[in-house]
Amino acid sequence: MKPIRIALTKGRLEEKSVALFEQLGYDCTAVREKGRRLILPVAGTNLEIVLAKAADVVTYVENGVCDIGVVGKDTIMEMGGTFYEVADLGFGRCRFALAVPRGVDFYEGYHTRCIASKYVNVARAFFEKKNMDVNIVKIEGSVELAPILGLSDAIVDIVETGVTLKENGLVVAETIMEVSARLIVNIASLKLRKQEIEPFITQIERYLAGGKQDA
Ligand code: PRP
Repeated sequence: MKPIRIALTKGRLEEKSVALFEQLGYDCTAVREKGRRLILPVAGTNLEIVLAKAADVVTYVENGVCDIGVVGKDTIMEMGGTFYEVADLGFGRCRFALAVPRGVDFYEGYHTRCIASKYVNVARAFFEKKNMDVNIVKIEGSVELAPILGLSDAIVDIVETGVTLKENGLVVAETIMEVSARLIVNIASLKLRKQEIEPFITQIERYLAGGKQDA
């Protein structure tokens, strides 16, 4: 029988995702002792855990090579895509924010602002809603560098603790939206393997309803 594949986002969300599955009673020893392996079995089940970068979790689930995924709402907002978003897992909480160098009034003056972001679609949508014409530059990581180096007036980025902004002389000018980890499911999988996938989702929903989101 083909395994049910669950794609987990490597890095920040990984530990909390694994902790959640362990709370639900799944044996994640193979993930904990993964070494460099990227596909790990969950002992005693038909589940397999796939470790991938956030954007790739969406790609794998959307294309049906993974049935289920755990990924941040930030990545979902940026990439869009066709899949079911079935649960807010409650961890990985952070926010999208517009941040500027300390002391700068972002809205002062009439020049066209330059915005640096890894999340260009989120940034574009934010300024379109404001009817504000901006130039958006895509930066792959450590986007805080862009205003410091003089490339941009501001950044649109994820803020969790705020330490990165603070240590780089930036402040939040506006919060755009709250984000957190989401459980996503491939559309065809949910239809074709309903009997296997639905109980798993229900189990997670029950757990979350029990108020233990911060596991
Ligand atoms: C994110 C984000 C900020 C930082 C914010 O980067 O882009 O740089 O975390 O966290 P804080 O508010 O707790 O300081 P990440 O570490 O995911 O790496 P990246 O820069 O490569 O995207």
